[in-house]
Amino acid sequence: MPAPEIALTDRFQSAFAAAFGEEYRDADPIIRPSQFADFQCNAAMGLAKRLGRKPRDIAQAILDAVDLEDMAETPEIAGPGFLNIRLRTDWVAAQAAELAADARLGIPAPARAERVVVDYSAPNVAKEMHVGHLRTTVVGDALVRTLEKLGHTVIRQNHIGDWGTPFGMLIEHLLEVGEDSAEAGLLETDPNAFYQAARAKFDAAEAEGPAADESDFASRARARVRTLQSGDGDTLAIWTRLVDLSKQYFHRIYDMLDVTLTDEHLAGESSYNAALEIVCKDLEADGLARISDGALCVFPEGFTGRDEKPLPLIIRKTGGGYGYATTDLAALRHRVDDLRADRIAYVIGTSQELHLAMVFEAAREAGWLTDAVDVRHVKIGSVLGEDGKILRTRSGASLRLMALLEEAVTSARGVIDELRPDLPEDERAQVAWQIGIGSVKYADLSTSHDTDYTFDLDRMLALTGNTAPYLQYAVARIRSIGRKAQAQGVHPAEVPHVVNDAERALALQLLDFGPVLAQVGATYEPHRLCAYLFSLAQAFTAFYDASPILKEDDEEVRAGRLALARLTESVLVEGLDALGVHAPQQM
Ligand code: ARG
Repeated sequence: MPAPEIALTDRFQSAFAAAFGEEYRDADPIIRPSQFADFQCNAAMGLAKRLGRKPRDIAQAILDAVDLEDMAETPEIAGPGFLNIRLRTDWVAAQAAELAADARLGIPAPARAERVVVDYSAPNVAKEMHVGHLRTTVVGDALVRTLEKLGHTVIRQNHIGDWGTPFGMLIEHLLEVGEDSAEAGLLETDPNAFYQAARAKFDAAEAEGPAADESDFASRARARVRTLQSGDGDTLAIWTRLVDLSKQYFHRIYDMLDVTLTDEHLAGESSYNAALEIVCKDLEADGLARISDGALCVFPEGFTGRDEKPLPLIIRKTGGGYGYATTDLAALRHRVDDLRADRIAYVIGTSQELHLAMVFEAAREAGWLTDAVDVRHVKIGSVLGEDGKILRTRSGASLRLMALLEEAVTSARGVIDELRPDLPEDERAQVAWQIGIGSVKYADLSTSHDTDYTFDLDRMLALTGNTAPYLQYAVARIRSIGRKAQAQGVHPAEVPHVVNDAERALALQLLDFGPVLAQVGATYEPHRLCAYLFSLAQAFTAFYDASPILKEDDEEVRAGRLALARLTESVLVEGLDALGVHAPQQM
């Protein structure tokens, strides 16, 4: 059951081939929604250029060749050569009937199921997950859910920061306070506080200068990094403990958010440790890496600094340590060679654009990455506070992510208490979680992922506008109609009733679900799905205002409208599910 745009594209391409020759079959018919009809075909102007004829003549030739009889009224030629198309209502109704019978709700099967690696979330061990991580987590999770619904094989990779220089100081601090101490407990509740305490000790020791026997905290921390990286068993054991405590913290956040990441998706920086030396050796052997100011560097083509000097990507620091870039090169190789990725999406903050672009280019030059793999940085913009600055701190103290999520749920509790004081306590608690978390996620998702936005709980929780609660309420309303219908013994018809304008407009919206989802999978832009669901919910409201369901006298119409409402419910729920947002039973 092709959606209108796809069916129209097909018909017009056949017409191009018939009117102008086979070589024109692939021309884009440029089918767009129209203000004057349902759609317009804007191809005549471009084809006229190619054919050296007048656009209006081309439009007429297309019109003569196109076979739309079963599908649309005869198109009208407008302006320089636009073809305005009004679909036949009986065609729309027939498509809606097919949609209602389709378990996949019109989601197209992929031409080829691809292996898509999605790198997202990636918080750092023993550090607070900040709202930036929240956004990469939420957007990434919406993408993996969507790609799976589209039939792709998704490989989640949580590239957590679990390696590197800070671990010397963190391990020393954990040894000092003791694994079972209250301070160590912070790792599970407020890891940033743990990190800050270690940092403070380190800085104080640095300020004082090293002790003669190097027994001071800073010297011990530095020595600890070396023992860790040399693979010392005792040090690794305590490092493992540190990482485990942090993992529990991540999972508490993931559970609260209902994010699909689990332990099996962890592929932290430490997991590439053994590959780092090989990365450097191979790049040196290829003549791509050379020593510059003591450090081993790659100079990927096309990246220059202010003075037009080539920018280095440091892969081994002076003194021998490997860094973030080396790890990313090893990770990229692993994803291409071992995970056999067709596509890789890096859902990471915009600020890391240069880093990733240089890593991609270096990997291309090394031949590790070819055009066969579609690699993309899904850039994530910042979340800002009311002061317009990146949301990091509130009233001086550090902003804990869990506290923020709890605040959202508490505020949502206020919303549901007011809306439905009659619901049982435990149900209101559940709905408050669905609304609160849904609102925070939806705010991340409904803005295009690379733009900044201001964190504003009141706006996120509003029952009007393009918000989670608006969509959740739309679902709850349809479900309530469904319950009433059942109580009255009214059953939905198999075929939705699509006759009047509002029914027709709603049906047309419903037919777009599959194509929109496919578009999100191809562009990695969940905000397109949000915009779609919002207009679908609006079309439902317009339909329900114009066309009574249970109050309708005609039994057949009543059942047909109920079917249309049910179909809307399914699409809304499925769409919200692709975003990772729950739809309450009642609200
Ligand atoms: N841990 C990093 C951070 O907090 C993000 C890692 C993203 N993934 C990657 N492959 N570099 O900034």
